Amino acid sequence: MQRTVHWLVLGMLLMVFGSVALALRQDIPGVDEIMDITHRVKKGLKDQLEVEAKKPKPDWAKMQKDAKEFTRLISLMEKNDPPKGAKASWVKLCREYTEDVAKVEEAVNKKDAKAVLAAIKALDKKCDECHDKHRP
Ligand code: HEC
Repeated sequence: MQRTVHWLVLGMLLMVFGSVALALRQDIPGVDEIMDITHRVKKGLKDQLEVEAKKPKPDWAKMQKDAKEFTRLISLMEKNDPPKGAKASWVKLCREYTEDVAKVEEAVNKKDAKAVLAAIKALDKKCDECHDKHRP
């Protein structure tokens, strides 16, 4: 009887750890999801930041939140396997892009609208290389 209880407890523990591990894994959003949240036309964080930075009185608090989330999500891209192409190239391009996006966040933190717009514009030069190599 006691033995059965031990096995039951062990089984339950395994189930708990299993679901925790799964939940942690799912914490990393997929590449398509990250691209969608950050780059969807108009609704994505990048376009939202651009619109806000062009306003005469930008909402810096909102921009700080958006820019932080932008960097966080892009930094998670490399944790995914590339949907297409070689892993080494993927990791390199993802890291470079994370640095570029971090520059947007830096400019936002300085509340420098001109620098924000310049940093966002610089991002547009980076889409094609990565899409050519890694977008299915
Ligand atoms: C470091 C690589 C990388 C960079 C840089 C990059 N993308 Fe992407 N993007 C991808 C990959 C890979 C996909 C395909 C995701 C999939 O379908 O699994 C994608 C998909 C997309 C999608 C479709 C999202 C969806 O709903 O599936 C849009 C829109 C997009 N990218 C816009 C952009 C724009 C605009 C830029 C530049 C300002 C950019 N991306 C820069 C890798 C990148």
